Amino acid sequence: MQNVLDYLKQNQPRFVDELCEYVRFPSVSAQPQHKRDLQACAEWVVKHCQRIGLEAQLCATEGNPVVVARTPHRSASLRTARPHFVVYGHYDVQPPEPFELWKSPPFEPRIEGRSLFGRGSSDNKGQNLAHLKAVEAYLKTGTELPCDITFVIEGEEEVGSKSLASFLKDYHTELSCDAIVISDTGMPTRKHPALTYALRGIAAFQITLRGPARDLHSGIFGGTVDNPAMALCQLIGKMRDKSGRVAIPGFYDDVAPLSAYEKREFARLPFTARQYQKFLGVPKLFGERGFTPMEQRSARPTFEINGLTSGYQGEGSKTIVPAWARVKITTRLVPNQKPARIIKLVRQHLKRLCPPSVRLEIKSGHGAEPYLVSPTSPQAQAGLRALKAAFGCEPVLLREGGSIPIINTLRRLLRADALLLGLGLPDDNAHSPNEKFDLDCFEKGQVMCAYLWQELSRL
Ligand code: BES
Ligand code: MN
Repeated sequence: MQNVLDYLKQNQPRFVDELCEYVRFPSVSAQPQHKRDLQACAEWVVKHCQRIGLEAQLCATEGNPVVVARTPHRSASLRTARPHFVVYGHYDVQPPEPFELWKSPPFEPRIEGRSLFGRGSSDNKGQNLAHLKAVEAYLKTGTELPCDITFVIEGEEEVGSKSLASFLKDYHTELSCDAIVISDTGMPTRKHPALTYALRGIAAFQITLRGPARDLHSGIFGGTVDNPAMALCQLIGKMRDKSGRVAIPGFYDDVAPLSAYEKREFARLPFTARQYQKFLGVPKLFGERGFTPMEQRSARPTFEINGLTSGYQGEGSKTIVPAWARVKITTRLVPNQKPARIIKLVRQHLKRLCPPSVRLEIKSGHGAEPYLVSPTSPQAQAGLRALKAAFGCEPVLLREGGSIPIINTLRRLLRADALLLGLGLPDDNAHSPNEKFDLDCFEKGQVMCAYLWQELSRL
């Protein structure tokens, strides 16, 4: 094991260069013009896996390819006595817009102090590369791994993991394993490494209201037709009350309350509302009454506008009644809400409230169920020991508000629980301009992964 740790220590500068190479691919899954970049990025991951001694292949899907890479000697047909673990990650990234707010271009990685800036550096390239580097250290030092490991790194996580879901239908027997390890979540501070035992689910949709057949002169026609932008604002305004509670009938029916144990654990996390407010740059925090911000962001559902478009957006003014207005919505879901039921409730409510002066179109997008496992299982304990050994601090337990859409499918098809050991920091700017990954988290993350295989294989 010492060889492994020494190898990691000695090779950090090269690992950082490799992370820069990885971040250089604009692998934006939401934007069709980047299709080739996703392919190229996946090919880079395959080559990288091969270089470090893994048996890797690019698996084509209807969408972006999936990279599957396994430690040597694990034959697909032969189940060995050794434990088998699957490491899941994603090479796709969120759109980088708005470009003008980046201090340096999103796909030209820049290092400042201990931060590596670039879209995808934290979510999720830096985190999955940390896992690869830990295994590289075993393979390149000739240290025997106590287990077999298969990496599954996909290219559609940020858009709902549709192709991976179909891929798994055919491929899951080869991937059946003892645990699924994922580093794609966060930790509260550098001194609080974390095991995440719950994630929120999600349901996405796009709502369009159409009015006149074309944009109209607002002086000549305004006052005789409804304004789709105004109608949309009024309609959407009815979906939530003043304190942020969702006002859709039935929306809370299946929400599981927080246990007293969880409430106590949340209260122990390093958090002050004042700092949180300053960090986010809001004049005042806002949220559902009766819950702390920590509870609101991880264990309560939401209804959010992600994008809102209508009418003239250019310089100066243009006096029109726009022909249409559109809003992109996601709701975050908590146990035991089901995306399909939520989408149905939202549709019904919108139809009921939409005025007859506009036409309503609802397109539902991706959906994912919320995730929750026991934080006290032997595997969770093993994860906590690995975190403590690498970071030298007592780890905390988290429920996170983000979603990993494939996680429940993985769990069901591979018949194993997921262990979420995230390396992102709250100020990594995931999905925001100036995303960065902390190089200490990168290095300690590699060490954590190295310990993890020992801890997990001992069970
Ligand atoms: N890494 C995140 C998920 C995450 C972030 C979980 C922080 C917990 C804490 C992941 O890459 C992500 O952003 N997922 C999307 C999924 C969606 C687009 C279907 C999300 O949560 O918005
Ligand atoms: Mn993300």
